[in-house]
Amino acid sequence: MLLHEIEELRKIRREWKGLKVGLVPTMGALHQGHLSLIKKAKESCDKVVVSVFVNPIQFGPSEDYNQYPRTLDKDYELCTQAGVDIVFAPSPEVMYGKGQRLSNDNLTYVCPPFFYVNKLCGKSRTGHFDGVCTVVLKLFNIVQPDFGFFGQKDAQQAVIIKKMVRDLNVPVEIVECPIVREESGLALSSRNKYLSDEGREDALVLSKILKNIKACYRKGITDIGVLKETAYGFLTDKHDLEYLEIFDKDTLEEKEKADDNSRVFIACRVEGVRLIDNICLGGE
Ligand code: PAF
Repeated sequence: MLLHEIEELRKIRREWKGLKVGLVPTMGALHQGHLSLIKKAKESCDKVVVSVFVNPIQFGPSEDYNQYPRTLDKDYELCTQAGVDIVFAPSPEVMYGKGQRLSNDNLTYVCPPFFYVNKLCGKSRTGHFDGVCTVVLKLFNIVQPDFGFFGQKDAQQAVIIKKMVRDLNVPVEIVECPIVREESGLALSSRNKYLSDEGREDALVLSKILKNIKACYRKGITDIGVLKETAYGFLTDKHDLEYLEIFDKDTLEEKEKADDNSRVFIACRVEGVRLIDNICLGGE
């Protein structure tokens, strides 16, 4: 069922009293990564809602809000095939109110702690995680799920959402699902659509750097500086590295030495497309 209005969704949600409800929040342009979240939700919940909403307030003024791929018909078809009960695709007016100025001097925003946002993606994307937390909390309030499913590709986002849920006592359990990769190693992302064939090849540098750092760690190298330096042999003038960091995977704190709880985070532009990826040094 495809719904655009909050009231329609609330009505059905009331009928689901006592059932376990899972929410998979997305911005659409669904790929196998999203489908893996939906599969996980289907396995553990009685009812599954997928939200499809390109959230204007998490994009900066020079970012790709207008170009972001919008493929609702295809998304709905994929969700139906995957057994999703409701696809909730509100307009910005439905989410934020008609004629509202979308800024934090007009609307109530959720602002996650500076420590978590002043690094990695948050450093170059000012206000991004305020926009993400605000829309995710709104979606949680609208859908009232028992579980929320998020991909580890956006690992900083998942840490911040877990922190929000804990700090604000939101009664939703966050389930993190592993990154889905192409056979080549490229992490699936809706933004891969912007890349040419050559760009897709060049984009493999992200997963290659991460894999190599993990291999070095497994050989016994734990010095963060030394691990990070191994990346430079992979980078060419086709790669515009934004960051490469190794932090604690749960707290995003810096580490003296890499260990099994460390996650390596990378962001790099290829053909002007900003790509992110990460890998955990332990297990996985
Ligand atoms: O990860 C995303 O696609 C978005 O940030 C999310 C969680 C759907 C919020 O708009």
